[in-house]
Amino acid sequence: MERLIWHPFTQMQTENPPIPIVKAKGAYLYAKNGTKYLDAISSWWVNLHGHAHPYIAKKIADQAFKLEHVMLAGFTHPNVEELATRLLPKLPGKMEKIFYSDNGSTAVEIALKMALQYFYNQGIKKTKILSFKGGYHGDTFGAMSVSSRNSFNKPFWNHLFEVISITPPLQGNEAKSIAELEAALRDPSVACFIFEPLILGVGGMKIYEAKYLDQLLSLCKKLQVLTIADEVMTGFGRTGSLFACDHLLEKPDIICLSKGITGGFLPLGATACSMNIYEAFLSDEKQKAFLHGHSYSGNPIACSAALASLDLLQDANCFMQRLMIEKAHQVFCKNKKNHPKLLRCESLGTILAVEYKTENPNYFSKLGRELYSFFLSKKILLRPLGNVLYVMPPYCVSKNDLENIYTAITQALED
Ligand SMILES: Cc1ncc(COP(=O)(O)O)c(C=O)c1O
Repeated sequence: MERLIWHPFTQMQTENPPIPIVKAKGAYLYAKNGTKYLDAISSWWVNLHGHAHPYIAKKIADQAFKLEHVMLAGFTHPNVEELATRLLPKLPGKMEKIFYSDNGSTAVEIALKMALQYFYNQGIKKTKILSFKGGYHGDTFGAMSVSSRNSFNKPFWNHLFEVISITPPLQGNEAKSIAELEAALRDPSVACFIFEPLILGVGGMKIYEAKYLDQLLSLCKKLQVLTIADEVMTGFGRTGSLFACDHLLEKPDIICLSKGITGGFLPLGATACSMNIYEAFLSDEKQKAFLHGHSYSGNPIACSAALASLDLLQDANCFMQRLMIEKAHQVFCKNKKNHPKLLRCESLGTILAVEYKTENPNYFSKLGRELYSFFLSKKILLRPLGNVLYVMPPYCVSKNDLENIYTAITQALED
């Protein structure tokens, strides 16, 4: 049966057969053969409150009996309205409109198109896009274009549009980053700057300080360059605050959301923007509208999951759990910081990054595969990004579960 499926990011010829999962509960995935795995990476960072959370499951079931879907052009429904009403005031900056889609890549595509058409509609010649070297924003063509050029997207390089990519302000590169942005901004045709706030996720969980991003954003603002925060990974509490941009003084003009938005139950994307961007699309001319949409934009069941997930996220218990994870990561980092096998061990909110020293620090390194197998043998799902091991658990994870993860990492280091 399994041979029918072509799996994501998988070399089908050489990879081990996938593990069939038949149920899940809390932080655990249960395989068909009875093995249970601790999901230490929230199933690609989507799960917030634990698998099959009964509160979200019930809201989804209720909604499915009421209204499963209606197209969002010409129609609306209470869930999209309620989600926008509750989400917008929580977002950093002054976000006033939400455009719905169905995954992180589409949330990014929409943000880029919004920014470009914002200028186009006003007859202003600003068409260039800035991004971070080593960044990742998804796998569709626009998202690939603004992401790092690497072996994942090499077959498509000829088809990707050009962007100006600047060095991110990682430790030691702060001045370089700012100088490169200043140089890039001398070109008056720059329209927007897209970035992953505070941490480059897929690019290796590389953490940088808020104050340098503030400087970059303030330079952009002075020159009317729109700023797009891709919070697809960082959103909904991962970095300690509700959104990574909460750590900033400067706020973005556009924010991309997905992944944790539904607590990990259903696909949903959202691109939020400020009023001035929205207003540039208002006209008597139909062509000035944002002529973009997806069949499942703002799906009512996905939105019911998002509303339920927001309820849980606002609960004091969730806050305490996030704090517990954050503190536990910090203690672990303190203990491992100077480990001879490690280049770094650092954390940001509920995200822990452990980078191995290696001669071949790339995604396809043998080390990454070995670590993945080692942790699976310990019944822990950790999927390193090459030589970078990271932990991003669901917020319901117990202190004991975390200790088990840390013990396994320590054992791996002793191996
Ligand atoms: C920062 C960021 N943006 C966008 C995406 C793309 O999201 P999706 O996989 O839902 O298309 C990802 C996925 O990992 C991401 O980390």
